[in-house]
Amino acid sequence: LANGLGTTPPMGWNSWNHFQCDGNGEVVIRETADALVSTGLAALGYKFVNIDDCWAEPKRDAKGNLVANTKTFPHGIKALADYVHSKGLKLGIYSDAGFQTCAKAQPGSLGHEEQDAKTFAAWGVDYLKYDNCNNGDLKPLERYPEMSRALMKAGRSIYFNLCEWGDMHPARWGAAYGNSWRTTNDIADNWDSMIATADQNEVWAEYARPGGWNDPDMLEVGNGGMTDSEYVVHFSLWAISKAPLIIGCDVRHMSQETYAILANKEVVAVNQDPLGVQGKKVRMEGSSEVWAAPLSEYRTAVVLLNRHATDEATITAHWDDIGLPAGTPVAARDLWQHQTLGAAFTDKISADVAPHACKMFLLQPITTPLR
Ligand code: GLA
Repeated sequence: LANGLGTTPPMGWNSWNHFQCDGNGEVVIRETADALVSTGLAALGYKFVNIDDCWAEPKRDAKGNLVANTKTFPHGIKALADYVHSKGLKLGIYSDAGFQTCAKAQPGSLGHEEQDAKTFAAWGVDYLKYDNCNNGDLKPLERYPEMSRALMKAGRSIYFNLCEWGDMHPARWGAAYGNSWRTTNDIADNWDSMIATADQNEVWAEYARPGGWNDPDMLEVGNGGMTDSEYVVHFSLWAISKAPLIIGCDVRHMSQETYAILANKEVVAVNQDPLGVQGKKVRMEGSSEVWAAPLSEYRTAVVLLNRHATDEATITAHWDDIGLPAGTPVAARDLWQHQTLGAAFTDKISADVAPHACKMFLLQPITTPLR
């Protein structure tokens, strides 16, 4: 969407994966904003603090306006936005391109697009996640463009995430209306769901570009259903896929391991690279895979992924597969070990990879000075 937003994938936090409807209130949102700043995650780029479903009263007011839930958001959304902005962060909110949201706790915005867009703009909202439930069987293209136009007229820059779950292949049409579009059903906090979600998103790689990203759903890192090694895979695949990096755990109470994953600057830099090309699976051999993405300045990001549950594997990325001319000497940096490897590599790079684990490398051509 040509609104100047999302030139790199959005980074931030959302309440749903950890809290669902329970505990989605202003106290949690404020404390989360505080924690993003105090941990240093905000400085790394995690700027959006996004409220998901269940923030509103079940009924609109007499003028048809959405109203924040008086119990969980007693000071209202405007005051919360002011607080979040005072911390240098941005506030996101949630609505639905239907008559009710997915949790059926509050009205959707279908038929109220302009009114709701103006409300969000007046509150100081910076991001809208727009879900797909209870839509009266109207097609997405009869519902999403309406909100997109309404936001463009509302007088505030609002990042627009189409949460259409990939049903009508939003990669094919989403860029005209949104800054990102869900390509998958909801992620769950386990390996099979995470890896299937990454696969479903991968097939749409050609459609991602600055201003419009494929969205394989929010991060589960830190929610407890996977091992740390599996979460490293999760984060590496989201990063190389140029997916939105929206944290889904309780950042007020993170383990050191969770923090180290989310705060890996070098992996975040791959995600935020200005070239904005989504990585693809370039080789599959059984449960061994090579994923690669071109980056700016002739660099390349590579993930060597072992999907096997029990066996270690030696996995090799050949220059042919990742789009480098054979014979090109590169320096390789291991982005999880934070180490530049001693040798130059000229046509391939290999590593032994543990089960349900990956290696992630940044390859940089070794240049010889002009004479
Ligand atoms: C849908 C979305 C989720 C979440 C819930 C809220 O399932 O895909 O991400 O927003 O609705 O009810």
